[in-house]
Amino acid sequence: MIFLNGQFVPIEQACVSVLDRGFIFGDGVYEVIPVYSRRPFRLTEHLSRLQHSLDGIRLSNPYTVEQWCELIAQIVEQNDGEDQSVYLHITRGVAKRDHAFPDVSPTVFIMSNPLLPPSKVFLEAGVAAVTASDNRWVRCDIKAISLLPNVLLRQIAVDAGAAETIMIRDGYLTEGAASNIFIVQDQVLLAPPKSHYMLPGITYDVVLELAAENHIIHEVREIAEDELFTAEEIMLTSSTREIMAVTSLNGQPVGTGHPGTMFTQLHQLYQQYKATHMRGGDDE
Ligand code: PDD
Repeated sequence: MIFLNGQFVPIEQACVSVLDRGFIFGDGVYEVIPVYSRRPFRLTEHLSRLQHSLDGIRLSNPYTVEQWCELIAQIVEQNDGEDQSVYLHITRGVAKRDHAFPDVSPTVFIMSNPLLPPSKVFLEAGVAAVTASDNRWVRCDIKAISLLPNVLLRQIAVDAGAAETIMIRDGYLTEGAASNIFIVQDQVLLAPPKSHYMLPGITYDVVLELAAENHIIHEVREIAEDELFTAEEIMLTSSTREIMAVTSLNGQPVGTGHPGTMFTQLHQLYQQYKATHMRGGDDE
């Protein structure tokens, strides 16, 4: 079951006009919210990032936080699986094709898919990544549905048999095609600072919070391209992939070529944090 413009319907019956501005212009924003044991994870943070994205494209929020929470609860309820990935999508609505904003209601779409944990093979061996120049626009902090650059960038990884493309802008690391990137240098966990050049990841925040709470030495600062190539460890984070070790970059091993100790520690802390959340132990 999905939610479309006020109604819950089976996905096969859901239809959107070809004039929808999401279809015509990619004019909309989205969110992906992981749900563990039927409890949305970091929901407040996802909804506040949604608000930031809506503000960024000057589209008013069609629902209050309470209404979003209720709609998400209903979608989770109406779909199978304890762990789900809830996708929210809002476009500027249906109107005759014209770049100027129309005076119409937005299109609101919510769906849920089963959320599978990263496979054991990937956790034990890590994944491969490649680098590419970040040729996206300069509002990467907006979670826009117009993902053509990200799609093209991710395909570079897929064509190379890798799991992610890590982007470099003006000599500095920004993020992955659909993930945030951390590195380890001299046993210090390093993360690029939030800016218009990257999406402020919810998982990124969780990892930095866990590092702070567990006295893991970490620093948020610009990461130069050459530091990426000499890193002891590289990790990627996202709501659907959680935290994964990148053990090969452009065909060369990262550090020992195996998931490192920082990854192992952060992965374990992340699983513990998730388990607390599933027991209802955090404030959501
Ligand atoms: N993408 N950067 C980009 C460009 C992303 O698309 C994502 C996530 C992230 C990680 O953000 P978070 O930790 O909040 O998931 C960073 C989602 C999962 C997607 O598009 O499917």
